[in-house]
Amino acid sequence: MKSDPIHTDGLDMAALPSHIAVIMDGNGRWAKKKLLNRVKGHEKGADTVRMVVRVCREIGISFLTLYAFSTENWQRPKAEVSALMVLLKKFVVSERQEMVVNNIRFNVIGQTEQLPEDIQGEILRTRDATRNNDGMHLNLALSYGSRSEIVKAVREIAEEVRTGQLAVDAIDENTVAAHLYTSSMPDPELLIRTSGEMRISNFLLWQIAYTEIAVTDTLWPDFTKDELVRILKDYQHRDRRFGRV
Ligand code: IPE
Ligand code: IPE
Ligand code: MG
Repeated sequence: MKSDPIHTDGLDMAALPSHIAVIMDGNGRWAKKKLLNRVKGHEKGADTVRMVVRVCREIGISFLTLYAFSTENWQRPKAEVSALMVLLKKFVVSERQEMVVNNIRFNVIGQTEQLPEDIQGEILRTRDATRNNDGMHLNLALSYGSRSEIVKAVREIAEEVRTGQLAVDAIDENTVAAHLYTSSMPDPELLIRTSGEMRISNFLLWQIAYTEIAVTDTLWPDFTKDELVRILKDYQHRDRRFGRV
């Protein structure tokens, strides 16, 4: 699987998005279709994560942000949440060396303090191990919710005003963006959602103001590199007007 060629014919390598965000959805439906436990779908989904990370790095994407667990996902059955945490920890540990070797810089966005302590520790270790890498930035959105991210930003800005560091009139869009988890990244040019749902599910609400959206019916465990390349080609044919003519 590792050395599988990527068929990039027809893809303009000079016009790739710098930041791709992905709502990785459909693991449960994939498992259900196969009469398997939902957790099997998440396990298979983790293989797709590895593939997408590899392909994006190889074609030269600078930022890849993957929605792995939302603030709302805590409300799932305890057993599923625990299984997801086990898989997450496995991923963060098992991919550490691979990321070091492949010059990937690892980061997590979201309420990391809500995660089990052992996972917080492994996240820190992987972040530290990859901190000097300057190839692709891989962001995992974990216990991430865009509304809570915006609330966090508002609180921090209000505190700066309260202490006199910031004037109300000086607050602009850059001020808000600077207080989001994504402050050091460009906004995503492309958002991909698998498994057909036409919704954003509390992901990067501020950051996707002018992002191109691609929804595919393919369930995340079935998502392939060829489909990723097809979506990228489709993206390159879009006319991004940003409100102008
Ligand atoms: C996405 O797959 C993974 C997570 C949200 C953690 P789902 O688990 O949401 O799969 P479906 O939507 O039930 O098929
Ligand atoms: C969005 O998927 C969250 C992740 C992919 C982590 P969900 O399956 O949780 O979203 P809804 O419930 O379909 O909106
Ligand atoms: Mg889902």
